[in-house]
Amino acid sequence: MLGVAASKLGLECVFLDPAENPPAASTGRVIAAAFDDEMALAELADSCDVITYEFENVPVTAVRAIESKCPVFPPPQALEQAQDRLAEKQLFESLQIPIPGYRAIDSAIDLQQAVELLGLPLVVKMRRLGYDGKGQVMLRKKEDAANVFDALGSQDLIAEQFVQFDREVSAIGARSTSGNIVTYALSENEHRDGILRVSRALPEDEQLTPVADDFLHRLMTRLEYVGVLALELFVKGERLLANEFAPRVHNSGHWTIEGAETSQFENHVRAITGIPLADASVIDFPGMVNIIGSMPADLSVFNAANATIHDYGKKAIPGRKLGHATVIGSSIEDRDKRLQHLQDALSG
Ligand SMILES: Nc1ncnc2c1ncn2[C@@H]1O[C@H](COP(=O)(O)OP(=O)(O)O)[C@@H](O)[C@H]1O
Ligand SMILES: [Mg+2]
Repeated sequence: MLGVAASKLGLECVFLDPAENPPAASTGRVIAAAFDDEMALAELADSCDVITYEFENVPVTAVRAIESKCPVFPPPQALEQAQDRLAEKQLFESLQIPIPGYRAIDSAIDLQQAVELLGLPLVVKMRRLGYDGKGQVMLRKKEDAANVFDALGSQDLIAEQFVQFDREVSAIGARSTSGNIVTYALSENEHRDGILRVSRALPEDEQLTPVADDFLHRLMTRLEYVGVLALELFVKGERLLANEFAPRVHNSGHWTIEGAETSQFENHVRAITGIPLADASVIDFPGMVNIIGSMPADLSVFNAANATIHDYGKKAIPGRKLGHATVIGSSIEDRDKRLQHLQDALSG
């Protein structure tokens, strides 16, 4: 999707991807190698005027290694902070962005102490390399602490208070090299089994929008950020608590392709290449459903919902995101009816 946006701007892309036939192959040349392959990184740096990444588990060492040969955005320090849940939480705290209570965990004893201090349930997460809810376990009883610690590999964990949130939202923004910032409408996100299922753009909310935008501004300014950043938040009553941030374009912003004047992908490419950011305003009432595990046999469900289908061309694997479909509603009701229709059809 970044490649498509770049082509639209008349830019040529080269991709580094360890996958055999990655989705990006349809929009540019692929160097098929591991993210830390030195030869491949050198070839990439030689081929490009600017480098970006759209996966937050790219090794920071690899990104730092090419930084001297070719500019890399978002800045590697943002990647570094996002890769470690502890550093991420400390960053939020230093910016006075509220977060759930948490403790760093290095032993089963630490975890038992965290129960005393924070209460139950706790969400225990690996500090590094988790995604789509992988690498996390819910601790409901203190006596399970040792088992949970073992189950997560016995090191470098974090325990957080489980937030009984009303809903989850994400705030997505782009920052240019000159420090200009644009922000998208908040997205309300539904997860199941840790995987994003549905996102809906929220109409401007007097209470939440300015607070979320302020958090985004603080975060992007501190990180001297360039590119698109997504901040995942829990809404509880009138409060917003930060969960995590992603230094990249985000699944909850996929609706911006059809549902915003300029997509998150295009604004990311603009930001990193020095083209001025463009209008991020929302168009009507967009929503998105992820297609997970398998493509429906009958694609007419997308026509019935008047949805735009995006098929990533990936091999079907249970739990894998294979594509998404976007609807632009004429009203909230119209959007939600069509999203429900798609969800029913996809789960069938
Ligand atoms: N402290 C928490 N309280 C309640 N739900 C949580 C908490 N942490 C994570 N979750 C749920 O699990 C999902 C995935 O967790 P997250 O920390 O965002 O990890 P990932 O890197 O897998 O996206 C969240 O979107 C949320 O639905
Ligand atoms: Mg998340």
